[in-house]
Amino acid sequence: MPHDMTARLARRVKLKDAHIITRMADIAEGLTDVIKLGRGDPDLDTPPHIVAAGQQALADGATHYTHPLGIPALRQAIADNIRAHGGADYAPDNIVVTPGGQQAMFVIALGLLDPGDEILVPCPGYNPYHQAAELSEATVVNIRTTIETNFTLTAEMVRAHITPKSKILVLINPNNPTGTVTPPAEIARIAEVAREHDLIVISDEIYARLTYGNHTVQPVAALPGMFERTITLSGLSKAYAMTGWRVGYFAGPPSLIPALAEINHAFAISTAAVSQHAALAALSGPQDCVEEMRQTYDERRRVLCDGLASLGIPHADPQGAFYVYADVSVTGVPASIFCERLLRDARVLAYPGTIYGDYVDSYVRLSLTQPIARIKEAIARMRPLVAAIRAEHKPA
Ligand SMILES: Cc1ncc(COP(=O)(O)O)c(C=O)c1O
Repeated sequence: MPHDMTARLARRVKLKDAHIITRMADIAEGLTDVIKLGRGDPDLDTPPHIVAAGQQALADGATHYTHPLGIPALRQAIADNIRAHGGADYAPDNIVVTPGGQQAMFVIALGLLDPGDEILVPCPGYNPYHQAAELSEATVVNIRTTIETNFTLTAEMVRAHITPKSKILVLINPNNPTGTVTPPAEIARIAEVAREHDLIVISDEIYARLTYGNHTVQPVAALPGMFERTITLSGLSKAYAMTGWRVGYFAGPPSLIPALAEINHAFAISTAAVSQHAALAALSGPQDCVEEMRQTYDERRRVLCDGLASLGIPHADPQGAFYVYADVSVTGVPASIFCERLLRDARVLAYPGTIYGDYVDSYVRLSLTQPIARIKEAIARMRPLVAAIRAEHKPA
């Protein structure tokens, strides 16, 4: 038996959720025909013209480090893209291309947070923000949203959590895992609170191109007085189905970007050249692929929501992103137990909300990353399972 060195991990390392993922992986071992509604990784392929641009770039020798901030043409395309969608006017030198938006979170947190600083994060809200804060030895302050208001964050809620130690406010819009889009007027009110209390805002707008109905995303940095105190974080993974290429970025004011760029350089040197060329093709080429994918998720969203309603499972109304956040505790068991049963007995993979920054073990996040026929099949498999769990846990 090898010597257990767990106790030697740094105190700042907190391994909260590993056991759930490991347990689910153990259950999945040996199962076939699993319907995967777990990770936020589109089943749709990267559009062919983007793949072709990557292949061409390789043929042309894009096999080296690039400019540390990212290839200039890509940063220009990102700046143009942000502006075209009502965002701030960023100079290409104030944009840093990163290996996924994920790394950007850690670069920003390590660059801005001192031990003891407080970072306000919506809860539920994408969990790596917690991890980035914890590795920076900062204190995470969860702002809990609830299903009654479709998990909408409000300025009042933000204000109620502010202390003299508050330094950063994270906005995830649309939100992962809830799919909530914060209304533009509410974003403006939240921005006012940020200005009033001198907060830096990290505005994660990675799902901004994927919204449904008449929901739209107000880019935070474009609001009056917000450019100087906002870091916009985004990437190509979601809108262009490019998760595996690993291209994200952050953009901010000239007072912050050089220091953060230096940290990013220490982490990555630069983002993979081939991926940057593919990203350039994505942003500067035809955009109908984004709209097609958006419509695909929209249709899937309706099917999954209707299916859950037919099972009597309440869920958030997904206004953006590609997830449905469902309250499975109505069946009588916590979400973590439900997910294990779902995988073992129905061969449907989804993770509990606790993995996505929720501290209430009631919700499951179901990704819209399977074709409609598979989503219908998942609902059909859930029907007897939900009935069985309900029967087992019926009050005597
Ligand atoms: C809200 C949010 N931000 C950022 C990311 C990071 O994505 P990537 O690193 O692929 O750019 C994700 C991935 O799921 C996400 O859900």
